[in-house]
Amino acid sequence: MSRRKKTSGEVKARSALSPEAVQGTLLEGQSLPVLQALGLVTPRGGASADAHRKIKQISHFVQQIAPALDDLFERHPEPVLVDAAAGKAYLGLVIYERWIARHGRGRLIAIEGRPDLVTRVQGIATELGFDRLEVQPARIAEAEWPERVHFAMALHACDTATDEALAMALAAKADHVALVPCCQAEVARLLKEVDAGPADLWRHAWHRREFGAHLTNVIRALALQSYGYQVTVTELAGWEHSLKNELILGRRVARFHAGAERQLAQLLEQIPVRPWLLEHLPPRET
Ligand SMILES: C[S@@+](CC[C@H](N)C(=O)[O-])C[C@H]1O[C@@H](n2cnc3c(N)ncnc32)[C@H](O)[C@@H]1O
Repeated sequence: MSRRKKTSGEVKARSALSPEAVQGTLLEGQSLPVLQALGLVTPRGGASADAHRKIKQISHFVQQIAPALDDLFERHPEPVLVDAAAGKAYLGLVIYERWIARHGRGRLIAIEGRPDLVTRVQGIATELGFDRLEVQPARIAEAEWPERVHFAMALHACDTATDEALAMALAAKADHVALVPCCQAEVARLLKEVDAGPADLWRHAWHRREFGAHLTNVIRALALQSYGYQVTVTELAGWEHSLKNELILGRRVARFHAGAERQLAQLLEQIPVRPWLLEHLPPRET
């Protein structure tokens, strides 16, 4: 069997970068010291092939959410941003530098379940003087979310952790939500017990996994829409080597959307599954 040829973007993203080339990757408002503190750029200013790939991914994500953050910083005096399942907080810290540090206002809450990563992120924030960053060592659904959040994101939050972020973002009436789901096993597991509707779509384990992941994201998008969000589902550009590259963006434009709620109910009548998200959605405004 022949292997797929790499695209030029993939080949380039896998090469190490010289200090001059790293300078060329910097986005507006992005500096070398932050990338160095994150361990993505060496003290001499270069980047390994792996770090290059990560820098590229971060840049693509930041570019896709930049209009939402620009809008927030224009409209709100103190925007509150949440990075759920922050991991090493590459994204959160890059976003912090470009918006919060630059404007000198707003704050970022990074939520992460692993204590070692929490300590690491706290250390980097202290080193950089990022005192508007709060790192919460907690599960996303158990963390202390402020009553009102302006921007909530979850990048590659494992399985139902994406749903925890979505449910909490809806409860906090986030103006903008950005989700890039990760691996998804929950709905595939539920589908195994469903022998109704178009069950041929998920009879085989492989199909169950693929269809389950698709259905999970359809449910997430419809739930978001039913809470009054204008939803865009697109590819997270620059993640061409990864299958986990679906980007779900929501912008709150109304208090609810009865049509989307009906569509979701109809879908769940055809395919009767009750994933975690549906049991944990906050009360909806009418
Ligand atoms: C694949 S990493 C992604 C990290 C980061 N968002 C990124 O894209 O670089 C997933 C992270 O989510 C954290 N995580 C998974 N489930 C979580 C939950 N329910 N609550 C808090 N953190 C969680 C894991 O500890 C891990 O650090």
